Amino acid sequence: MKIVVADKFERVGLDGLAAIGCNVTNAPETPADGLAAVVNDARAEVLVVRSKKVTALSIEGMRGVRLIIRAGAGYDNIDLNAATAAGIAVANCPGMNAVAVAELAIGHLINLDRRIPEQTIAAREGKWDKKEFGRTGTGGARGLKGSTLGVVGCGAIGRAVIKRALAFEMRVIAWSRSITKDHAKDLGAEWGGNDTPALHTLASVCDAISIHLPGASDTKHLIGREFLSKMKPGAYLVNTSRGSVIDEAALRDAMVSKGIRAGLDVFENQPAEPQGAWTCQTAKLSGVSITHHSGAGTEQAQNAVAEEVVRIVRVLKETGTIENRVN
Ligand code: MLT
Repeated sequence: MKIVVADKFERVGLDGLAAIGCNVTNAPETPADGLAAVVNDARAEVLVVRSKKVTALSIEGMRGVRLIIRAGAGYDNIDLNAATAAGIAVANCPGMNAVAVAELAIGHLINLDRRIPEQTIAAREGKWDKKEFGRTGTGGARGLKGSTLGVVGCGAIGRAVIKRALAFEMRVIAWSRSITKDHAKDLGAEWGGNDTPALHTLASVCDAISIHLPGASDTKHLIGREFLSKMKPGAYLVNTSRGSVIDEAALRDAMVSKGIRAGLDVFENQPAEPQGAWTCQTAKLSGVSITHHSGAGTEQAQNAVAEEVVRIVRVLKETGTIENRVN
């Protein structure tokens, strides 16, 4: 089976695909608009991508591809409708990087409370400031123990965040479109409801909120002006899911007007390519902790994702079945 891997992919995945008899074209530098050409040249049946955008135009130009595998959980970088219309299956690797993303979400939470990025910047600028960073009161560190964390979205990542927050002795309220009272209780959390009014109530009672929703039309700007207006002044907002979920201009206004602190791994205007110039208006504000959509970027997570990709291809080769199909 011929496979094109069009993003950086762990060695264990490349070796694993070769070991099950695949002929792999490893082409991480392929530009998004060159995907169809690379796939067609390689006569590939399977395309593996991580961050690369697979547009309708690319899909329409592909010949012979049966399956596109997203080496990660979310698949909003792949035009699902176009793939379905072209008879191409799309599969993902859910849960494989959940712990890594949850660890980063908790990292942002601690960053926001203890202002670690600002302390680092001050040191880099040649300043010792125990007075500022060791103070309490408005703008100071509060401590996480006993504070209330709202977890929005309770898939594998949200659940991993709940587990870690409970270890920090936080009170956790869980909201998702489908979570039941029993499920929340099993997770050790309080039930935060399933609808938008309940989401806004959650905003009003939490000291910190962590977002774990997929990027989709029904989650776009779900965290918008109304939600932000309900948040407590000085509360913390962490987003390691998708940039589209938060109205970032509204967030900046809330950061300035009511001291919301934001820990962000994803952005509305983040580059599609893994490296390049980027202007982030939100990063210029104080009370911010920024990472570069690197939530899933641990060795453990990337190896687990790569092994899952190999498993999906092996099952396809052996049985013709597409595991984790999303369309
Ligand atoms: C995901 O959807 O799992 C993450 O965005 C993964 C990644 O950054 O590769």
